[in-house]
Amino acid sequence: MKRIFEVDPWKVTSHIFNPEDKRLQESMTAIGNDYMGIRGNFEEGYSADGLQGTYLAGVWFPDKTRVGWWKNGYPEYFGKSLNAPSFINVEITVNGERVDLAKSKFSDFYLSLDMHQGLLTRSYVYEGKDVKVKFEFNRFLSNKIKEAALIDIKATVLEGSAKIKFNAKIDSNVVNEDSNYDEHFWQPLGEDGEGRTVQVITKPNPYEGVPQFTVLLKQGLKANGEKIEGKVTTTTGVLSETVEVELNENDTYELEKDVVVVTSRDVEPAEQAKKATDLLDAVQSESFVDNLADHTAIWEKRWEQSDIVIAGDEAAQQGIRFNILQLFMTYYGEDRRLNVGPKGFTGEKYGGATYWDTEAYIVPMYLAVTKPEVTKALLEYRHEQLPGAYHNAKQQGLKGALFPMVTFNGIECHNEWEITFEEIHRNADIPFAIYQYTNYTGDDSYVKDEGMDVLVGTARFWADRVHFSKRKGKYMIHGVTGPNEYENNVNNNWFTNTMARWLIGYTLERLPKATAEAQKRVAVTDEEKAKWQDIVDNMYLPEDKELGIFVQHDTFLDKDLRPVSEIEDQRPINQNWSWDKILRSPFIKQADVLQGIYFLNDHYTMEQKEKNFDFYEPMTVHESSLSPCIHSILAAELGKKEKAVELYERTARLDLDNYNNDTVDGLHITSMSGSWLAIVQGFAGMRYDADHLKFNPFVPDKWNHYSFKLNYRGRLIEVYADHKEIKVSLLKGADLEIIVKGDKVQLKEGETQCLKA
Ligand code: BGC
Repeated sequence: MKRIFEVDPWKVTSHIFNPEDKRLQESMTAIGNDYMGIRGNFEEGYSADGLQGTYLAGVWFPDKTRVGWWKNGYPEYFGKSLNAPSFINVEITVNGERVDLAKSKFSDFYLSLDMHQGLLTRSYVYEGKDVKVKFEFNRFLSNKIKEAALIDIKATVLEGSAKIKFNAKIDSNVVNEDSNYDEHFWQPLGEDGEGRTVQVITKPNPYEGVPQFTVLLKQGLKANGEKIEGKVTTTTGVLSETVEVELNENDTYELEKDVVVVTSRDVEPAEQAKKATDLLDAVQSESFVDNLADHTAIWEKRWEQSDIVIAGDEAAQQGIRFNILQLFMTYYGEDRRLNVGPKGFTGEKYGGATYWDTEAYIVPMYLAVTKPEVTKALLEYRHEQLPGAYHNAKQQGLKGALFPMVTFNGIECHNEWEITFEEIHRNADIPFAIYQYTNYTGDDSYVKDEGMDVLVGTARFWADRVHFSKRKGKYMIHGVTGPNEYENNVNNNWFTNTMARWLIGYTLERLPKATAEAQKRVAVTDEEKAKWQDIVDNMYLPEDKELGIFVQHDTFLDKDLRPVSEIEDQRPINQNWSWDKILRSPFIKQADVLQGIYFLNDHYTMEQKEKNFDFYEPMTVHESSLSPCIHSILAAELGKKEKAVELYERTARLDLDNYNNDTVDGLHITSMSGSWLAIVQGFAGMRYDADHLKFNPFVPDKWNHYSFKLNYRGRLIEVYADHKEIKVSLLKGADLEIIVKGDKVQLKEGETQCLKA
């Protein structure tokens, strides 16, 4: 655990710069606008260790697979979000000396991410020979003109006189740190000094259907609010524009650098220069301050709908806001071709690709904080990728559709056998989002039509993947990896078997209600239906009646079972133990049986929930960021308030406090929704079925109160809870009956219902 930023309800601020924490600082101060994102790199450059990271949504490269030992069925490539040409750079020299915080003398360092609007501010006093200059940097990625990045730099001479040279650059000589064969994925197409542009294209690739992307970047400068032109030079893939000023004591000079980035996802390569000119003109026709105001107005609306207010615990408050901010900076659902990568735009790990994280963690939050169309777009994203899913199943010699563990286009690109071939629970978790969407929104048009293609495709996969054990007279699923990736190749993982059975059962239930068109398309035969029903009726689900628990997999109970408290000094085990030791151990990376109890919450009794929680949680190391929130929600349901709060804090401040010692790689974007879920589904006990929205709130002892808002079937609802009362207000929309603490409550627009806590 390491906290390098101060606790504040609306800011992530530091007054200290420690080079050892450079990468951590970069991850924590990454900003994005769901079109692109940048790590918290310094504009003036930084010559010591760091990761210059710029990522453009949906721009990726198929990096040829590299494995120690090739196994049949491995994907040919791993899709990676490309580290894009770097465009924030403005190198600075003062009286001939390069300003570089790795080498220069400086004081009064300040760095702050303002969460109201994702504005990154930094300042320090540069101390050169006979000169002191205060530099202030502000940057944001515009929500109004998504292609635009705005950077404002102020230099004020505090002592002496300064000849300052600014070199504003676009640099496409960038590599992905994690490139498998140290390849450069970008090839320059040309630099236009006069037009201030650089255009690049991704390397040709041999894979069918994987596009080449062309990107054009254009910069424009302003000095003290007026457009200026510096002296331009170009080298291959690089544009440099220099401006020199001479300042005396107390003089201030303000340089604004505006950049627009257009990609072939939206604009044909031949049209990009023109489009960039138009966009840059639009940006530069307004001042930095006015552009920022437009951008902030969009954030204000978002916060108005989705802020969670926590009174009495600033660390908890900062945690939830940081997570909501980072999530919305990654994905706000405005481009339906996109999805949410586990690290968003904040690092290279996980390649910016789509995982089951989206359906399991993002969907339940986004259903309530964004418009229903956003979640529907996420569902349709998978529908469009069904051909890839059929391809993946075929690769494994199986029928039906297998959604990938990692993908950009539906084709699996993960390449570790224990995940690629075995972590197949995803193929029920992903369709589970259809069930969530249908129940939450009350809109069954998707499940009746396109959703049916997904359900039947995945049901066919499961029906082929199970086998019948004659000895036990049951259907089984062998050779899998459950969500707990600290065990592989296990037989009858309870979670996988349970979710596969659920998926087949749900498909059978919904099929007769599907549109005639969809039924014709999927053409399920009577024979198939009978087989599916037999699987539902006879799926093997390991259980230990004496312990009162579902068993994680066939041999789990034969392990050397002991609590995590016995190995406290050896954690995190994934950084301290050899892999075989981890695999043999009873320690669980993330919710596994408990993930199933969380998903199918209303299938189980409180006693079953409690017994399983008490058995598995003490053996769980939570070394996936996806883990603590699920446990927090279940602990809250079971009245284990302290545990619920402890795990909430771990979820909400996972990156702010670097709990898993891996935030240097980037933020844990997809698990950030977990902190929202821990408050709303955990502390406030929000559940829903096809008919009702339900709450069962409690307030953590340390907090005074909390409140949040939800979109629900065309309404905006606010829930407030303190230690004495619960208030539910229908801010907008038609009358509604909800259930609070088991009782029916009638909501009317503009009115608040108060209930005793
Ligand atoms: C987790 C997976 C998850 C992936 C991406 C892994 O560490 O075990 O469940 O999908 O990270 O977040």
